[in-house]
Amino acid sequence: MPHYTITLHHPDQPCEQFRVAPGQSLLAGAEAGLTRPVPVGCRCGGCGLCRVRILQGPYQRQCMSRRHVSLEQAEQGYALACRVLPEGDLDIELATPCLDTPAARLCNGHG
Ligand code: FES
Repeated sequence: MPHYTITLHHPDQPCEQFRVAPGQSLLAGAEAGLTRPVPVGCRCGGCGLCRVRILQGPYQRQCMSRRHVSLEQAEQGYALACRVLPEGDLDIELATPCLDTPAARLCNGHG
C-alpha cells in the first residue's frame, strides 16, 4: 500500500519520521508511527491540542475551529493534525499552544 513520509522537525533535537497512508489523518499517522507522545485531545478539530505547522508538502485540510487556527495562521501553514489529510510527503513541526488544559492527554499510539 502506498504511503507518505512525514518528517517532524524539532527545534533542538533530531527530526523524526513516520508514515501516513492515503486517507489517514496526520494525527493518526503520528500516533501510530512515533515512539514519543504527541498532544491529543478531541480528535475532531475542536480543542487545538494537535496543532502543527506544515512547512512544506501537499495536503488537504478539513474543517477545523478558527479559534485555534485563524485564516492568517492557516495561510502560514498552521493546521490541526487531526483534520489534515496528507497528499504527499510533508515536513512539519509541532505548534501546540498549551498542554496544560483538562482536555489534554498524551498518547503514545497505544491508546
Ligand atoms: S485533537 Fe483536538 S483539535 Fe485535533
